[in-house]
Amino acid sequence: MSVTKTEKIRKHYDTVADTYDIHYDDHRGKKYHTHLSNHLMKALPECGNLLDIGCGTGLFVEKYIQHGGQGTGVDISEKMVEKARHRCPDCEFIVGTGEKLPFDDSTFNAVSSVLVFSYVKDPVAMLSEVYRVLEPGGSVALCTLGKKLITSGIPSLYKIGEKIRIKHVVMKDFGEHYYNEKEMYSLFDNAGFGDVDVKWCSFAHIDMIDPIFSLAARVEPFVEKSVPQLAYNIFVSAKKE
Ligand SMILES: C[S@@+](CC[C@H](N)C(=O)[O-])C[C@H]1O[C@@H](n2cnc3c(N)ncnc32)[C@H](O)[C@@H]1O
Repeated sequence: MSVTKTEKIRKHYDTVADTYDIHYDDHRGKKYHTHLSNHLMKALPECGNLLDIGCGTGLFVEKYIQHGGQGTGVDISEKMVEKARHRCPDCEFIVGTGEKLPFDDSTFNAVSSVLVFSYVKDPVAMLSEVYRVLEPGGSVALCTLGKKLITSGIPSLYKIGEKIRIKHVVMKDFGEHYYNEKEMYSLFDNAGFGDVDVKWCSFAHIDMIDPIFSLAARVEPFVEKSVPQLAYNIFVSAKKE
């Protein structure tokens, strides 16, 4: 029986839910995740009513509600959702897909998604849903691995990783799709969003060894501002006008 792409992703995250935070909420992973989150935070209303798509173990929701506001998360993996509920007991977390959101129109004034969009089978459906659940004036911000020379070898690396059964939180062949600036701009524009801003972020990668990670983290702001060709996550923010 063939397993669909989404089913494979769901099963994988169910399997790694117990160890996910060792990767992304500790040491280099925590710095990497915080760095990405800070980019999103700047583009979203403070203390708003947030929906986080592909919320995983609730890392971004936890950061968002730290200074007030409300957070809701949705994720296809039940085990990741369980972890998120444990992390943020006062927030609502629901098992579901970003392509068909179980919320009424105009429910949120902020939507986020961290390291998820490259997995999504139907990005047009997801953005149309984001548009629908946002209230007029609401903001969306997401970041995901982008398409450029630096990331072009990743799919093959993941395929090899899967073949030799490397135990790694993300190193598996999920047929991910990476986007460039033009593709992102047109996806958001076609979904009806205004104020679409696309930029590159991240230079320090979680899988670098410590001294190199520290060095890369130090020059990261310079790279993002002056040599964005070397940054590998693509960041998009936009508004429902
Ligand atoms: C790399 S993890 C990121 C988790 C979290 N956003 C974070 O920053 O830690 C990717 C997450 O996306 C979820 N996911 C993948 N495709 C999805 C979809 N179509 N709808 C909702 N969640 C999805 C996975 O189950 C997984 O929890």
